[in-house]
Amino acid sequence: ANALGAAAAGSGRYFGTAVASGRLGDSTYSTVLDREFTMVTPENEMKWDTVEPSRGSFNFAPGDAIVNHATAHGQRMRGHTLVWHSQLPSWVGSIGDASTLRGVMDNHITTEMNHYKGRIYAWDVVNEAFADDGSGRHRSSVFQNVLGDGFIEEAFRTARNTDPSAKLCYNDYNIENWSDAKTQGVYRMVKDFKSRGVPIDCVGFQSHFGAGGPPASFQTTLSNFAALGVDVQLTELDIAQASATAYTNTVKACLAVTHCTGITVWGIRDSDSWRTGENPLLFDNNGNPKPAYNAVLTTL
Ligand code: XIL
Repeated sequence: ANALGAAAAGSGRYFGTAVASGRLGDSTYSTVLDREFTMVTPENEMKWDTVEPSRGSFNFAPGDAIVNHATAHGQRMRGHTLVWHSQLPSWVGSIGDASTLRGVMDNHITTEMNHYKGRIYAWDVVNEAFADDGSGRHRSSVFQNVLGDGFIEEAFRTARNTDPSAKLCYNDYNIENWSDAKTQGVYRMVKDFKSRGVPIDCVGFQSHFGAGGPPASFQTTLSNFAALGVDVQLTELDIAQASATAYTNTVKACLAVTHCTGITVWGIRDSDSWRTGENPLLFDNNGNPKPAYNAVLTTL
């Protein structure tokens, strides 16, 4: 195959990218997007601060622009993200009453999912709910602090009831190394959800890596999660300096796990990346493929 999406399709997988609606009019950008990628994640356009900036007032125009582009080009969509402590408007953060916050969270989930019903392959229902401190516990957030541990389960149940045909994912970063307490905390949650019938279909490993690429245990982590009965996906891949070896090792880890269903890079050109100055992506600022691109294409 001569494109990432086509190569990944050879093993039944997708190859996706984050897309920013404001760049769709850039023809260099859209040419690479439509040639290479079969899955699209809105980089910011489906986050709470864009979608519901004030209570009950919804803005889907930026997300719609991306969904319309993807539909026109045969690309599937990952929805990102329904419940997250970041890019959260301050009106949500200041709710202190549990039944009010639960109603607001559930209304946000149902309204956004209903708007996009039938057009989203998988939703990141909850993003980054675990702490980085090595405790293996949930991080502090308005959802955690007001609703307690049960907010994650509540969000997944509401999501399943709203769009039963969408895959429901938990998504996080720094959960790629098997022995890390954060990885173990997420693993315990998924195991508990599966054992109690809480609806969860997939775990997204963001995969924001340093120059060395993935930890040696990455494949083990992916296969251990998959053994719980969920799909696993690399959802926001970027690697400082984008060495071909680091990208190859990352792709190999996914390919070795049957239920690793796809890989998404977090942007197209280095100039599109949120990691300014790290050149972590597969295309240079002019939209030309870098050595890591050829390594990925050959490995897929
Ligand atoms: C980032 C975007 O790339 C930036 O444009 C934005 O300013 C901040 O968020 N984890 C996630 C993504 O789940 O949504 C984040 O995206 C990167 C970290």
